[in-house]
Amino acid sequence: MATYNIAVMPGDGTGPEVTVEAVKVLKAAADKFGFKVNLTDFDFGGERYKRTGETLPDSGVEELREFDAILLGAIGHPDVAPGILEKGILLKARFALDQYINLRPVKLYPGVETPIKDKGPDEIDFTVVRENSGDLYTGTGGFTMKGTPHEVAVQSAVYSRFQVDRCLKYAFEYAKKHGKKSRGRGKENTLALCGKTNVLTYVYDLWERAFHEMGKAEYPDIRRDYYHVDATCMWMVKNPEWFDVIVTGNMFGDIITDLGAMVQGGMGIAAGGNINPGGVSMFEPIGGSAPKYTGMNVINPIACIGAAQMMLEHLGETEAAGWIEKAIVKGISKMESLAAGKMGMGTKEVGSMVAKFVKEA
Ligand code: IPM
Ligand code: MN
Repeated sequence: MATYNIAVMPGDGTGPEVTVEAVKVLKAAADKFGFKVNLTDFDFGGERYKRTGETLPDSGVEELREFDAILLGAIGHPDVAPGILEKGILLKARFALDQYINLRPVKLYPGVETPIKDKGPDEIDFTVVRENSGDLYTGTGGFTMKGTPHEVAVQSAVYSRFQVDRCLKYAFEYAKKHGKKSRGRGKENTLALCGKTNVLTYVYDLWERAFHEMGKAEYPDIRRDYYHVDATCMWMVKNPEWFDVIVTGNMFGDIITDLGAMVQGGMGIAAGGNINPGGVSMFEPIGGSAPKYTGMNVINPIACIGAAQMMLEHLGETEAAGWIEKAIVKGISKMESLAAGKMGMGTKEVGSMVAKFVKEA
């Protein structure tokens, strides 16, 4: 029997509550589809930091390296200054484990309310491949004359050809396997580069050249589109059906996927994967730790359940992942809303309901 060793990092705020529900569903899927999950909990997060001053130590990274995958709840604590836990845990894990892809599907499920007028599941169904190792996230920069009226702050968008190429490779392969043609939803598979070649004339010039070179040489059947990031935001709202797979740098990817999350029904449903195709990947709900809802049994666990679904897909348990998705869709149809506190049921009830639907698969 296939056995997967999963590191579970519930983290802060509502992270632990949603993680418990995702684990419920994971276990139900394991029972139903005949594989085993060995779960190991790690307490990296704000509470541990307050107690010990430790975020994610190097020894923790080495421990995480031994797992088949990581399931993360949320990182962010109201008593800890912004940046410390995000950089010290979330970004550290992404960088140290070289999870160079952040895969974020934007899919509107039937019955889910979107703020985009006259658009439904047929129109809102695309995926963002966000580069996850470079850009403004590398911490390259600094201050000079700090604290004086002449202070200067610099933060650089950093990309190497290597980083760009490996991300593009993943994105083209993803478009080939999961693009609209491959999933029977359209006439062609399309990869769109989201950049800003009119202003970021070095970094996105590199991206654009590499994009067309690779596309032309290796993926001639995949249609290539280009959008500036500002226009991407505009079209995601106006004509989301134009998108299939979007590839972009780390910073733009961060921003457009929050817009994507809202378009697909909000933070209660948006999930993503930090992927190292040759290493350990980490799956997480995109929303934060929502401290104000902590411990109230009102937060929506569907995003974390969706992260578990992506994790199983990544591990090769495609059938189980597919059934979790069906169970999510069925679960959603019973919920009044996807918003915290307005679901018409509690966090635990949503988790148990989805787990039950998985068992009935
Ligand atoms: C995300 C988050 C993180 C990011 C923060 C918390 C560091 O916004 O996962 O999108 O910017 O990547
Ligand atoms: Mn973000």
